[in-house]
Amino acid sequence: MNVTPDVEKAHKIAWMARSQAHAPYSKFQVGAALKLAGVEDAVPGCNVENASYGATICAERTAVCTAVSFFGQIKPEFLVIVTGEKNATVPCGVCLQVLAEFCGDEMPVYLGNDTGIIAQKKFKDFLPKAFRVFEVNK
Ligand code: THU
Repeated sequence: MNVTPDVEKAHKIAWMARSQAHAPYSKFQVGAALKLAGVEDAVPGCNVENASYGATICAERTAVCTAVSFFGQIKPEFLVIVTGEKNATVPCGVCLQVLAEFCGDEMPVYLGNDTGIIAQKKFKDFLPKAFRVFEVNK
């Protein structure tokens, strides 16, 4: 899929993050890259599994928590998610709720694999009626 250089760069960051995934149980490695307004490089995230399976953290949530830890009040511009699958993998429900805290309904979400970006969606395609208390920074 044809994407901007910014998205291409974020795809590389997400793919690199995926290689750091700690996924000895599922063997399903996921990478994410959250591009923020005013920050050049997208913030990476990978899934970090745990022997107590429920304590596993997904790649998207790792990226959000890392971004907030580094930058505080974040303004996400777009998100890239990559897996080793042929078909696009969508974010899980828990990650969608965490993303909803910071990401607007129109935020582009790019899904990809080793070949590059294979699908482009909007956040609201996955969670059309997000529960929020605060309005998201735009
Ligand atoms: N996973 C993610 O990192 N992101 C998602 O949106 C879906 C699932 C991870 C969690 C677990 O480590 C593995 O993929 C299999 O579910």
